[in-house]
Amino acid sequence: MKKLFIKTYGCQMNVYDSARMADLLAPHGYGMTDGPEDADMVILNTCHIREKATDKVYSELGRLRELKEAKAENGGRMLIAVAGCTAQAEGAEIVKRQSAVDMVVGPQSYHRLPEMIARVTRGAGAVLETEFPTEEKFDALPEERSGRGATAFLTVQEGCDKFCTFCVVPYTRGAEYSRPVRDVVREAERLAASGVCEITLLGQNVNAFSGEGPDGTRWGLAQLIRRLAQIGGVERLRYTTSHPRDMDDALIDVHAEVEQLMPYLHLPVQSGSDRILKAMNRQHGRDAYFNVVARIRAVRKDIALSSDFIVGFPGESDKDFDDTMDLVRSVGFASAFSFKYSPRPGTPAAVEKQIPEDVKDARLQGLQALLFSQQKAFNQSCEGKVFPVLFEKPGRKEGQAIGRSPYLQPVHVENALSLIGALRPVRIAAASQGSLTGVLQAENDVRIREMAH
Ligand code: 5AD
Ligand code: SF4
Repeated sequence: MKKLFIKTYGCQMNVYDSARMADLLAPHGYGMTDGPEDADMVILNTCHIREKATDKVYSELGRLRELKEAKAENGGRMLIAVAGCTAQAEGAEIVKRQSAVDMVVGPQSYHRLPEMIARVTRGAGAVLETEFPTEEKFDALPEERSGRGATAFLTVQEGCDKFCTFCVVPYTRGAEYSRPVRDVVREAERLAASGVCEITLLGQNVNAFSGEGPDGTRWGLAQLIRRLAQIGGVERLRYTTSHPRDMDDALIDVHAEVEQLMPYLHLPVQSGSDRILKAMNRQHGRDAYFNVVARIRAVRKDIALSSDFIVGFPGESDKDFDDTMDLVRSVGFASAFSFKYSPRPGTPAAVEKQIPEDVKDARLQGLQALLFSQQKAFNQSCEGKVFPVLFEKPGRKEGQAIGRSPYLQPVHVENALSLIGALRPVRIAAASQGSLTGVLQAENDVRIREMAH
């Protein structure tokens, strides 16, 4: 058995891709290992979204080079592959900057890894695959192996046609593509059969899903969710990431009707200023965002929202930033990610006049203070409630396990180690900004799914 180490950066789509790469290489004799030290093959599955993410990859490659050389001195061999979005964006540049790299493979081509490994092993030098191949990656991948645990990601849509002016995704992941419904259903059935009870549907624009249905028509995400909810064992469904413009009524209604769909929605808005939203080419204004939030809260009043924000986008004035703060105060978020704008090569906003770093820093601090206080308040509002918790992994204390609430909050529970993989009622005892602690409740007559409502 050869040893494979995969390090994953960036988003959940990359987490999914890493799992599929492991599936792909298993029949070729590669078993997973926990670190790069003794690995025969290392894959860095990279992210290109902000400059920092890309910098991290190059410093990691520097460390790997040393390990590779040490291994070679002892007569061994370590193959190094760079996969993911930086691979797609920088291609051959990566090998120029770090000659220890053997393979560069984009997110649409990683099904070709076995053949690439064979070419490198035959002494072909560094090999590169960054085409968006016409042959279907998903068709070429083997079935996923079992043993994923209680929760799993399932990519249903990839790519992006929206071209926000800050974003590399349309260039690294290509045009929007939705998988056929039949394939998604089969994958979900296999996951459920292997013990997965929570599935998160993934796509860069997941709510723009438009997959070929078994009846030959195009199915939207709403229809897909209804279908997946019929699979036995699928107790929880989530989807991410959504674009506000694609939140149609059918999808909003599903939140009222499908009990497995968790009452939590990640809906990035990026900015609260109409002027900046326009400059970002988001294709909606702040009122449209308020409108979506009102519509979804009307059908599902307990829904919690999360979002992404960018501060310091080119041209952002103090007034624009105030509009963002105002939007946050008006909506109220259960959690959120916020970032300083990072100019990305090849994107339209990168060539605009940039906002000074100290202004970005101050704005990020102000925004994060507000978002953290909202998150804490939301978590505290959960104290005393009973939530169904899906236990995922052991906690730090003896006997403790960590699970997730319907709102994705980590919940720490004592005497729960034997419950990993199971869904149980937990009374929330205490809350901090980032997590909850709770106490197991007797299951008696509490129906888990109903509690989520
Ligand atoms: N700079 C900063 N943040 C960015 N994001 C995307 N591109 C950039 C960029 N150039 C953020 C957005 C997006 C999240 C995944 O990353 O908020 O929703
Ligand atoms: Fe990063 Fe975007 Fe690629 Fe995900 S899709 S890894 S967030 S650049």
